Amino acid sequence: MSNSLLTVNIAGMNLGSPTALASGILGYTAESLRLVAEGGAGAVVTKSVGVAPRPGYPNPTVVQADSGLINAVGLPNPGIDFYVEELTYAKSLLPVPLIVSVFGYTAEEYALVSKKAVEAGADAVELNVSCPHVKYTGSEIGQNPKLLTDVVCKVKAAVQKPVIVKLSPNVTDITELAKAAENAGADALTVINTVRAVAINVETQRAVLSNIRGGLSGPAIKPIALRCVYDVFEAVKLPIFGCGGITDWRDAVEFFLAGASAVQVGTAVGSEDPTVFQAINRGVASYLKRKAYGSVNEIVGLCHQD
Ligand SMILES: Cc1cc2nc3c(=O)[nH]c(=O)nc-3n(C[C@H](O)[C@H](O)[C@H](O)COP(=O)(O)O)c2cc1C
Repeated sequence: MSNSLLTVNIAGMNLGSPTALASGILGYTAESLRLVAEGGAGAVVTKSVGVAPRPGYPNPTVVQADSGLINAVGLPNPGIDFYVEELTYAKSLLPVPLIVSVFGYTAEEYALVSKKAVEAGADAVELNVSCPHVKYTGSEIGQNPKLLTDVVCKVKAAVQKPVIVKLSPNVTDITELAKAAENAGADALTVINTVRAVAINVETQRAVLSNIRGGLSGPAIKPIALRCVYDVFEAVKLPIFGCGGITDWRDAVEFFLAGASAVQVGTAVGSEDPTVFQAINRGVASYLKRKAYGSVNEIVGLCHQD
């Protein structure tokens, strides 16, 4: 849907709509990313990719929770060298910005994968420093301002494209990490990744997931994500992709009012279908018209006014 009401610019990228695909939901293939773009997404984020291939965890890796999912897939990925060909193909197919999600075990790994992703055609990289279920990456970096600063500085030195940092809600004060990312030169933030969680089966009397701990996503985490966006908006000047539990246009509008310049949708794409983006975009556009606004930008952070 191309509609000036819905056009947003975030970190120098022009998005035809303010709803993007969140990382990890539809895997890696160029064709699935294209489906989502055709379904109305204004940008797509790939599943996180690292230096080397990883098989991920054994099953079960995903379990249904009340109003959401708990997953511990373990960052399965083909490794950046294998993925560059598919990325180049995705770039040639996609009518919207291609954001590559990157993870690593060291700052140098983040920088190397980011460089290769940009060379293959990424319009931006999103640093997954917030995966709650893989040790020595994700949370360890995203919970430590010093490590986070090092990662962002090294990636910024390696690429000329926007660097987006995806923050974890699994911290005492998310604004400390947001400020560290901003001071290190990040161009935008994604707020939030999944919330640490456990599911237990009373018959087997064991945890359901093979990894025991996983990350909760979907409607159950929306109020947590909104609080994080609200706090981060007051703490830094960086544009924010709001993410967590967005299913319909009302959810998206709540995130814009809290301070997000655009949103990412994950779990709802899996449970509904790629046209969820069109449905959200239509609803946002008619809300803006009904309230006599000329663009999404006019409502970003509005609920912070006295
Ligand atoms: C099955 C699954 C896999 C995910 N994989 C990734 C990933 O590879 N990288 C990442 O940064 N986030 C990953 N996420 C987190 C989502 O991108 C998103 O931050 C989170 O699910 C909250 O949004 P939602 O409630 O709209 O799903 C994954 C989420 C799910 C449910």
